[in-house]
Amino acid sequence: MLAAALSATLVGLEAHPVRVEVEAMRGPPLFEMVGLAEGAVRESRVRVKSALAQVGVHITECALVVNLAPADVRKSGSGFDLAIAAAALGALGALPRDALAGTLFIGELSLEGTVQPLRGVLAQLLGARARGVRRAVVPRANAAEAALVEGVDVRTVGSLGELLEALRGRSELPVATRPRDPKPNAPADDLSDVRGQAAGRRALEIAASGGHNLLMIGPPGAGKTMLARRLPGLLPPLSTEEALEVTAIHSVAGLLSASHGLSRRRPFRAPHHTVSEVGLVGGGDGPRPGEVSLAHQGVLFLDELAEFRRSALEALRQPLEDGVVAISRAQAKATFPARLLLVCAMNPCACGWLGDGTGRCACSPERVRAYRTKLSGPLLDRIDVHVVLPPVEVTALQGPARGEDSAAVRARVEWARAVQRHRAERREVSATTNASLAPRDLERVAVLCAAGARMLSAAVERLALSARAYGKVLRLARTIADLEGSTAVRPHHVAEAIGLRVLDRGALAAAA
Ligand SMILES: Nc1ncnc2c1ncn2[C@@H]1O[C@H](COP(=O)(O)OP(=O)(O)OP(=O)(O)O)[C@@H](O)[C@H]1O
Ligand SMILES: [Mg+2]
Repeated sequence: MLAAALSATLVGLEAHPVRVEVEAMRGPPLFEMVGLAEGAVRESRVRVKSALAQVGVHITECALVVNLAPADVRKSGSGFDLAIAAAALGALGALPRDALAGTLFIGELSLEGTVQPLRGVLAQLLGARARGVRRAVVPRANAAEAALVEGVDVRTVGSLGELLEALRGRSELPVATRPRDPKPNAPADDLSDVRGQAAGRRALEIAASGGHNLLMIGPPGAGKTMLARRLPGLLPPLSTEEALEVTAIHSVAGLLSASHGLSRRRPFRAPHHTVSEVGLVGGGDGPRPGEVSLAHQGVLFLDELAEFRRSALEALRQPLEDGVVAISRAQAKATFPARLLLVCAMNPCACGWLGDGTGRCACSPERVRAYRTKLSGPLLDRIDVHVVLPPVEVTALQGPARGEDSAAVRARVEWARAVQRHRAERREVSATTNASLAPRDLERVAVLCAAGARMLSAAVERLALSARAYGKVLRLARTIADLEGSTAVRPHHVAEAIGLRVLDRGALAAAA
């Protein structure tokens, strides 16, 4: 007899439907599998056979042939076990007719017949819902993320025996219930902890407002890491749709705990400088998302930028440009979203003390140059704001005055972002943040008055600004004007924008 059950496989963040067909025939014992199955899927035979034996179904006197369709999609992972076992039960005549119809089954079986949790259940269910699937059975340990998907009747199962009872109509599988959303407790890192560093705080606010990537340069202990950690708290809260996407990516990476509900916080990822290219942009078996995708809708922080492998930094160029990572596989192209704010930090030289005014820097000019040349030019090209942080003044550390807190700054950031969104909604521009404005859009929304144009031309000549740097100054000036609530880009906006391009101004070269 032939029976079929619905399952799915993930390619990147995309779920592809897979129909699991099982034909049971009289004959010598045989368990064959066809349909482009990778290693872990083929091993499924061993697990399914043993799990079936646990519910009293011994396949010793029949031949089972499993077909995973469509045959041209490569199937990976262990998530087909449940569908294969269910279809086998159907093919062996152990289930009522239509018991499997219309239901998606995903889950791995142990030899004992228990159902094991999987990575990527949320992405699987979102994909299934988009295809019109209305009922699904998933591992009980994945209940929290599965319950986030509205519009699908999601049931959870702990063992094959439990599934068999339910499919025979003798019991009901429990509905996946949603854990309470974690209280949006105030972020532990607040901007009011940062003393002094007015330029750094301002740069952070501008970066958050316009979606501009940021590089902070300063001596050890100036507060670079401290400031970077506070950037997610300056961004507007995630919408439900964004939060679902973020949670789905973290689920595919296997980073969700069993009780994890919706990720409401903007991600903050700070990979160590020894991170590999695959670790940073994704790939490997599965493939799995890299740090750029784990930072999607949040912040990717590269601390000690000069220490990162050049190849890893070069690999960042494509995702930074496109907002998405494409990983080529033999059969299909896996994609993961990667829209993030990049924040980098570095010391001005190898010892870290160059230009701190105390003269304790021991680096020779050659050593300083060697340290700087480690930075990848193409990566620097994708960073709009460069700012130098001075050492923190002791009076700022000791004084009673605390700076503004994150909530106050976030209010201005949200306002500036709303202005940019409205421009996009009115179709004046095609991008929702100033950082990604196309040159044609920029000409329209960052028109300079005569004085502003003169100031920018003088800067171009004096600093030998490239055409790309010119565009970046204009984009920054647009953001600064938006923060001020000004429709026109005025000379003082341009002046501040030029000030945020430290590397163009050669300020560091002068210090060397
Ligand atoms: N502006 C500041 N206000 C208050 N505390 C600060 C400030 N800057 C630094 N500190 C204190 O110094 C510690 C180290 O700061 P942080 O790690 O941010 O420095 P850094 O610039 O990243 O240094 P490094 O170059 O060594 O990585 C912080 O944990 C904090 O206690
Ligand atoms: Mg640091």
